[in-house]
Amino acid sequence: MERVIVNDVGPRDGLQNDPATVSPGERARLIRALVAAGVPAVEAVSFVSPKAVPKMAGAAEVIGALDLDAADVSALIPNHKGYELARAAGVRSVAVVLSATDTMNRKNINMDLDTTRRVCAEIVEQACRDGLTGRAYVSVALGCPYEGDVPEARIESLSAAMFDAGAAEVIVADTIGAGNPRQVRSLFERLVQEFGAERLSAHFHDTRALALANAWQALECGIRKFDASIGGLGGCPFAPGAAGNLATEDLVGLLHQCGYDTGIDLTALVSVVDQVEALVGHPVGGRSLPWLRKNLAAIHTGTGADTSGIP
Ligand code: COA
Ligand code: ZN
Repeated sequence: MERVIVNDVGPRDGLQNDPATVSPGERARLIRALVAAGVPAVEAVSFVSPKAVPKMAGAAEVIGALDLDAADVSALIPNHKGYELARAAGVRSVAVVLSATDTMNRKNINMDLDTTRRVCAEIVEQACRDGLTGRAYVSVALGCPYEGDVPEARIESLSAAMFDAGAAEVIVADTIGAGNPRQVRSLFERLVQEFGAERLSAHFHDTRALALANAWQALECGIRKFDASIGGLGGCPFAPGAAGNLATEDLVGLLHQCGYDTGIDLTALVSVVDQVEALVGHPVGGRSLPWLRKNLAAIHTGTGADTSGIP
């Protein structure tokens, strides 16, 4: 079976925007549960200003409570200060955030597009020198809440700038869930041709119920690495209209039903959704969760429920 890598961004992209404040210790426990369920990669924290994003305070504490050999644990970094804090905390993989429009960069990290591109490149170069893995988000790639449509050529040139700086991967992010499968196909075909599928990853939000369709389309273009968020947690405080991320359990269910291997135990993953619900104190979950909850036990005991296609 062909392997698809799922990077759970729930502890960062999810919890940064949830009404609940989850302590660093509880965030670390959640991340350990994801890893125990077989999730190979987790975006654990962001090293950002606690004034800008109070929910992500205590990033170093979260990192310090994790086994960094157990999974690919990464941190989101907005600027040089964030990089230094991450490195001091022992982080081995960082992701810089380069939004594709001037306004989004200003709203998100208070820098214009040119400055952000320069700073992101400098951080990725520094990460390479320090022996860390540097990755780069190209955000609002399928639509910006402030500037609308984004030309594909700009996504391509920003991605090229990040690869030139030494980025191991570019994560193409539909930050507000504005894209549709046709746009996804057009953009990813272009990027895959230019950079190769193995260096690209896709990040979708489910604002218009198109995240799973968009992920499928990216998969058809050759993408084999995806961000998703446990329970569909998510949103960006600086991108109006951004709803939850593609739910990890929905993506994993799709992949398993279509014959792809993720290394993730779906039953254990659903238990993690239960844990998230208890942590944030409100219902969470992707669109498949009710079906999964109803049928997973029966699948394992072979009692003849609707088990079609679920391993
Ligand atoms: N981590 C922690 N604190 C930081 C920091 C970082 N990466 N970067 C700056 N700071 C602190 C400064 O030390 C300063 O603290 P002080 O007020 O106690 O002196 C304060 O933040 C302001 O610093 P400045 O460099 O002027 O930053 P800014 O006000 O222009 O804000 C960011 C820039 C990047 C720090 C801020 O916009 C931010 O954290 N954005 C995060 C956005 C985000 O996480 N979006 C969601 C994910 S895409
Ligand atoms: Zn996101």
